[in-house]
Amino acid sequence: MNENTKHQTPNTRKASSAKHQSRNGAADGTLVFGIWCFFGVWCLGLGVSAASGLKTKTQHVLELLRLYESRNVTFIEPDDSWPIVWERACGVHVWDAEGKKYLDLTAGFGVAATGHANTRVVKAGQQQMERLLHAMGDVHPHALKAQLARELSRITFERWRVSLNPSTVKSLNRVPVQRFNDSTVQRAKTIFCNSGFEAVETALKTAIMATGKRGIIAFEGAYHGLGYGALNATHREHFRGPFRSQLGQFAHFVPLPEAGQASRLTQKTSDDCLKEIQEDRRGACPTRERVEDCIQRLFRREQIGAILCEPIQVRGGINVPPPALLPLLRRLCDEHRALLILDEVYTGFGRTGKWFACEHNEVIPDLICLGKALTGGFPLSACVGRADIMDAAWPPSNGEAIHTSTFLGHPVGCAMALAQIKEIARLKLVRRSATLGRVLLEKLSALRATRSTLSISCRGLGLLAGLEVRYPGGSPATKVALQIIKTMIRRGFILLPEGEHANVISFTPPLTITERQLENAVAALAEVLNHE
Ligand SMILES: Cc1ncc(COP(=O)(O)O)c(C=O)c1O
Repeated sequence: MNENTKHQTPNTRKASSAKHQSRNGAADGTLVFGIWCFFGVWCLGLGVSAASGLKTKTQHVLELLRLYESRNVTFIEPDDSWPIVWERACGVHVWDAEGKKYLDLTAGFGVAATGHANTRVVKAGQQQMERLLHAMGDVHPHALKAQLARELSRITFERWRVSLNPSTVKSLNRVPVQRFNDSTVQRAKTIFCNSGFEAVETALKTAIMATGKRGIIAFEGAYHGLGYGALNATHREHFRGPFRSQLGQFAHFVPLPEAGQASRLTQKTSDDCLKEIQEDRRGACPTRERVEDCIQRLFRREQIGAILCEPIQVRGGINVPPPALLPLLRRLCDEHRALLILDEVYTGFGRTGKWFACEHNEVIPDLICLGKALTGGFPLSACVGRADIMDAAWPPSNGEAIHTSTFLGHPVGCAMALAQIKEIARLKLVRRSATLGRVLLEKLSALRATRSTLSISCRGLGLLAGLEVRYPGGSPATKVALQIIKTMIRRGFILLPEGEHANVISFTPPLTITERQLENAVAALAEVLNHE
């Protein structure tokens, strides 16, 4: 019921009782009384609609959220100036509940890689909805789950095997699919899940099943999601603090050697053996050698079954590690018979200018976690692993899967994912991300020169970039960054803050964005920066 209807109900009731009275009252007074009643009701109605007219659709939604959604979820400014309420989205644009149009530089947390509501992806989802809306995850499957598992194998491990041989082609479209049954081709096997953190938790379960070792090594600044398993490996105190007493505490954090780090890391690592490195870090960031030393010590001291790493930390503040990090982790995992798990939930599907970010360093992981852009908008994620490792970890099902969920491999999600992967290839979005990413970074770098009261730096890879805002003394300019983001939204550009101090303005636009649109966004940002 909207405000008008709610308030009209008593008025209508009054009108009908007036009618009733007029029928039974003196004939002489009837007309006058009736006119007065009509006038009264009309005035009341006018007053009510005037009052409710003050409330916009946005305010109405925010009021409902204030009343009915748990209050830690949506941040709402007291004056309703944040957030906007999304009404619809198409391509690179979003419209709010007031009909205002925005350029979305977030792709909705990186999900809308092929553009919001990509026609082919939506159609695939709609057709699937009509045909089969739900199947029985680990019991009675549907065909698309099998097809998507094969497709994920094809674009990851099978392709890597071929493309990492320098004499063979690197193009996804030219991968020889017919070699699927060839034992020399390394296949992958998948466990489907719903959201990103579940894919990470599935990888963690795979690691202990495969190695029998409970510990894992993760990185400071890491974000792997907030479920109780993934939270062990998510570093930020804000997320861990309230639940620390219930966490399994099987993750050991090491610093991320830096090629461009968002925050001087303030949180202490849990291990005594890392104290020395913290000392080192006071002035400069830890070197690769020191990080290696630290990891080696953890391997000697703990039962470590896996190293879990984001090739680029996105939620951590677009922290790009040096290119030597992943090869180092690969070597250390091989040396210690541990699994290398790459969390590509954010960086996967062309975001960094390669299908998967690990390809920049030519490192093949043992397990890869995928989500977000996988479907373009349906909650489906996947833990994809080298087939022999997955088989070593997981015994054949006896009818009761050890790890599953009601919506595992949802048919609509699978249909959309298959269409999304095709669209990424058809529109050549991976190459586009690499090319436009260079343009974006160039333009963001130019912003640096225009500021004197703030220290600004940028970093990124492909269409994943961050602009870090600090005061000249080095402390994070959180308030300024948030103010910039709020001003940008008023000007029609959606951006997000990232990093422990929320002082890194991140760019993860749909990969379909044009150069002109990027230019407009950076030009607006330059103006806003010069007025902050
Ligand atoms: C690298 C990474 N892993 C895991 C997750 C968790 O994904 P979800 O929020 O879908 O659970 C995220 C979310 O941002 C992420 O960036």
